[in-house]
Amino acid sequence: MDKGFGDTFERFSKATGIKWLIITVTGWFGVNCGCEYRRKLFNKWFPYKQNKKMNKKITLDDILDPITPKIFFTEYWNKKHLIIRRNKFKNLFTWGDFNHYMNQYPAMKGLQILDYRKDGDGRWCLDKVRNGKWKLPMLKKDQIYKLWEEGKSFILPFAEYQNKELVDICSEFERYFEQGQSNIYCSPKANSKSFPAHSDNTENFLFHTEGKVKWTIYKEFAPSKPKEILEEFILEAGDLLYIPQYQYHKVDTIGPRILISVHFRNKDKQSLDNFNITQLGNNKRSKWYNWLPEKPFNKKGEKVEERRMQSNSWKKRYFREKI
Ligand SMILES: [Fe+2]
Repeated sequence: MDKGFGDTFERFSKATGIKWLIITVTGWFGVNCGCEYRRKLFNKWFPYKQNKKMNKKITLDDILDPITPKIFFTEYWNKKHLIIRRNKFKNLFTWGDFNHYMNQYPAMKGLQILDYRKDGDGRWCLDKVRNGKWKLPMLKKDQIYKLWEEGKSFILPFAEYQNKELVDICSEFERYFEQGQSNIYCSPKANSKSFPAHSDNTENFLFHTEGKVKWTIYKEFAPSKPKEILEEFILEAGDLLYIPQYQYHKVDTIGPRILISVHFRNKDKQSLDNFNITQLGNNKRSKWYNWLPEKPFNKKGEKVEERRMQSNSWKKRYFREKI
């Protein structure tokens, strides 16, 4: 990829033969054509914008933006919830992704439907409960779809490898916390059943990617019981919410929504006085591999894009005889 105008000029002059002319003419007069110098100078004067998304590691600063990690850990971590209203990471999991994911049913692991089972917490995990006292038949795809149409909330567990950005976010968090997990909460309409007020034994980061969600945060932390409401608010796509471990909270669905919960346990003996940050790339999470095949090479050994056959040109190749 060209870094600037200098690279483009170099390529263009090579391709059109101007370069040969420049070298020949300057050669006749015994002067250096200055190609390399010119290329670098033009690149410096007219640089192209680099695609920042490429190869750029997601940092905790990016994730918590506009709050800095220092403010986060000193003022909020383990103490109080944090609402970050902004317009970021909306594409981590969209309705299109949900559609693709659900169409794979039943070839998926641990799909959960809220309010399916009348006992317990109302959650039914479709492929864990195959025997024992909770045993229920596996549902057919059209039955699952009907439950969605009726307004049931679905939870997609182990979702962190749904895309690279989400893996990068988890990996970055795991420098500060233990290895975590991601669940995606999806609801089709307002008043879809969600969990009652509860607390979790993990640090929770909630990325909102579709629709709006009403949150209720309670003053109490477990093992106390939730009594007093601390704050109620509505978050939407692009917003981030942090809820400390053990703090009580509740979600109400006020329309179709997708919410990604990324949660982690704290590292053993982690404290502000003795804060342990794992070095980049030193965590236990398996990395995101690029499974794409290598691109073909040209004579110079450079990687080239394969040209696709255009229009009817393919016919010439395969049908030399007149058809
Ligand atoms: Fe929760």
